[in-house]
Amino acid sequence: MLSVERLEQTLGVRPFQYLETTASTNDVAMRWLPEGAPAGGIVTANEQVQGRGRLGRTWYAPPGTALMLSYVLRPAADDLPYIGMAGAVAVQETIQALGIEGVGLKWPNDVQIDGRKVCGILPEAAWQNGALLGVVLGIGVNVRIDFAGTPFEHTAISLEQRVSPLDRAELLARLAERLDVWTARLSADELFERWQAGLVMLGRSVSIATVTGTITGTAEAVERQGALVVRDAHGVLQRVIAGDIALG
Ligand code: BTN
Repeated sequence: MLSVERLEQTLGVRPFQYLETTASTNDVAMRWLPEGAPAGGIVTANEQVQGRGRLGRTWYAPPGTALMLSYVLRPAADDLPYIGMAGAVAVQETIQALGIEGVGLKWPNDVQIDGRKVCGILPEAAWQNGALLGVVLGIGVNVRIDFAGTPFEHTAISLEQRVSPLDRAELLARLAERLDVWTARLSADELFERWQAGLVMLGRSVSIATVTGTITGTAEAVERQGALVVRDAHGVLQRVIAGDIALG
């Protein structure tokens, strides 16, 4: 069970906000930023009723079934491209530390187990008078969502399908520690190298839905700031900044 008392035990002195139900932890953290939210501060909830995903999607999990958090950063604007990478690598390491195998990253920042999505990541930046106020790194991890009989049955997975039972407060504390490590080293080559090494689709045939259309080809590489480089059917290299990638 998540509760303020339990989170105080696992998070120690780390500033956090816990909400039984909220629209979106990212919204709460965004409102906290101008009020002085500290780097490393966390907003978490037992239920989100208007959780946001990438590319304008919604992200929903039944109450008590997911780890939903927004981690506060106060980065330099130059480091913005690396924040999603830090989230993905931190989640991957946290899951691997549970003894779970087959953990990989799907470009740009989904975390998968055996090719099925276990975590989605949504960084959002807040600006004030043209200056970067801060960033909220939203992370949703499927802990015990039952996907049986849903459209996600074969494409999503929950951690407890591999290790059970899990304590979300403990998991949050472990993840926060990894986030502290990598968000302190956003521009480090080692972060990029770990992210790159985790990506499961490099060298494979992919199809990417972007706002301007679908690109198909071979995922050849990723650039230092995260763009995906795809060689299309005409042999031309295409640089993709955002999109939804699928195999084949
Ligand atoms: C995605 O896979 O599209 C990203 C999903 C991100 C969901 C998390 S849950 C906590 C935080 N609050 C939100 O509204 N979204 C993120």
